[in-house]
Amino acid sequence: MTKDKKLTSAFGSPVGNDLNTLTAGGRGPTLMQDVHLLEKLAHFDRERIPERVVHAKGAGAYGYFEVTADVTKYTKAAFLSKVGKKTDVFARFSTVGGEKGSADAERDPRGFALKFYTEEGNYDMTGNNTPVFFIRDPLKFPDFIHTQKRDPATNLKSPTMAWDFWSLTPESMHQVTILFSDRGTPATYRNMNGYSSHTYKWYNDKGEYYWVQYHFKTDQGIKNLTGPEAAEMCGKDPDHATRDLYDAIEAGDYPSWTLEMQILSPEQAKDFGWDIFDITKVWPHKEVPPITVGKLVLDRNPENYFAEVEQAAFNPSNLVPGIGVSPDKMLQGRLFSYHDTHLHRLGPNYHLIPVNQPKLAPENNYQRDGNMRVDNNGGGGPNYWPNSFHGPVPDGVSNEPEIPLDGVGARHEYTHPNDDFVQPGTLYSVVMTDQDRTNLVNNILGSMKSVPQPIQLRQCALFYLTHKEYGTRVAEGLGLDMDEVERLAAMTQEERVAATPVK
Ligand code: NDP
Ligand code: HEM
Repeated sequence: MTKDKKLTSAFGSPVGNDLNTLTAGGRGPTLMQDVHLLEKLAHFDRERIPERVVHAKGAGAYGYFEVTADVTKYTKAAFLSKVGKKTDVFARFSTVGGEKGSADAERDPRGFALKFYTEEGNYDMTGNNTPVFFIRDPLKFPDFIHTQKRDPATNLKSPTMAWDFWSLTPESMHQVTILFSDRGTPATYRNMNGYSSHTYKWYNDKGEYYWVQYHFKTDQGIKNLTGPEAAEMCGKDPDHATRDLYDAIEAGDYPSWTLEMQILSPEQAKDFGWDIFDITKVWPHKEVPPITVGKLVLDRNPENYFAEVEQAAFNPSNLVPGIGVSPDKMLQGRLFSYHDTHLHRLGPNYHLIPVNQPKLAPENNYQRDGNMRVDNNGGGGPNYWPNSFHGPVPDGVSNEPEIPLDGVGARHEYTHPNDDFVQPGTLYSVVMTDQDRTNLVNNILGSMKSVPQPIQLRQCALFYLTHKEYGTRVAEGLGLDMDEVERLAAMTQEERVAATPVK
């Protein structure tokens, strides 16, 4: 702020005194006519908006995405149309379960949300730092999130709620194994990868489509905190990752990520060994080698946190021609949830907030009015379609290629090749080092020690099914009877749950 800027009311009239309330006499009551005081207090009373129901604590930065390989064979997205092409980006990283004031070093997945300001409108890639998720049906999301929040009676975080839910949800094993490895406590936001986790669709200008997954690999290298280091950091600097991102960018040490894509043609997808619409599974790299497509660089901090980061609104349904969704049920559920929550959190015209505005493709439609409609609201142009008065016209070429769909309308379970234990088993036994495995087991023991024994037994049976050594180490660490764990592991999930009632 320059020295000679004059203090004004919200409506521009000069304010003569901002230190002393207007009173009747030096020791008398305040006068109602101190309109400056009334305006200031009333605005203060409304400073808080609802925090995000998940991912409330986060940090954001601007930058750009640069294309480094020709992908026009796969997608007609304009921002991916040429090697060397750069597109402005806003990124927000976050933890998931904690409140807006919670510590950055908590064990949690990290959000990895990107907004590309393309010439065909905004494209949002709203991912996480993990390639999989705990559940694969959106009906379970509110329940799962409740287990990550506070106990309704004690208002405390509850490992019992979390492990009860996971032990009753075997498909969570892959993500639970990643979460309790040291990747569940990244050293900073700069030292983690970002994944779409879901399968999306890319389509080209010939109407051919491909199934794809995004992997933004950190150029800073993966770096994690151990469990004890993370616990210490929570107390020492609850904002350490926010601070790290801001300071690195201020110092000109711009973080970057290399975008690698896994791409499957519909023909390849037919015979693929894993359900590509099941977010609890990855596509093994050997079967679908990733190709390098571009680079993301973050090089500018926001000037105002509330305006730009708190009010940022990401949405998996913000798509551009050339990029579509897949039938992944979780993704389909997300297509509803984000716009809906933004309407609640920010209001019906949240797309007019500068950070959310499509900068290179101005909004042109027949939506009108609503709270905080602060642009010219379509001016005097027609507000209905079709019209004869030169209003905006649908272009027809933005339609996606047709894809064959069939099936019976029912509440289907996932049945396609779908072993929930093989991939986390490979992670445990092949990908992890001895030290990774030890840290994983210790992190789990720290979290599970206070959980009722029937839940411990049920969960250890799932660890055992993932890998015998994994289950044995956790069960022994908890002092459980191994015969009982093995007996439970031999049962179906239904039998296991019936055999482990909690009093
Ligand atoms: P690869 O050996 O080709 O890949 C292993 C992957 O595991 C690498 O991407 C590595 O990431 C990542 N990784 C290493 N340590 C951990 C950890 N503690 N938690 C999570 N990921 C880790 O094997 P496959 O592709 O055959 O996959 C084997 C297993 O690796 C999978 O079952 C899955 O659990 C895990 N994985 C696979 C990914 C995929 O897309 N295929 C992606 C991430 C994990 P980096 O290179 O960044 O260090
Ligand atoms: C944020 C819902 C699954 C990544 C949110 C928000 C909601 C939500 C309501 C708050 C948004 C806001 O207030 O701005 C859901 C539902 C899911 C789901 C219903 C499943 C059915 C996922 C998955 C991922 C993910 C699988 C990652 C692959 C994120 C990220 C944010 C977020 C990164 C924070 C965006 C930001 O930085 O503002 N989600 N989510 N979510 N979600 Fe999800």
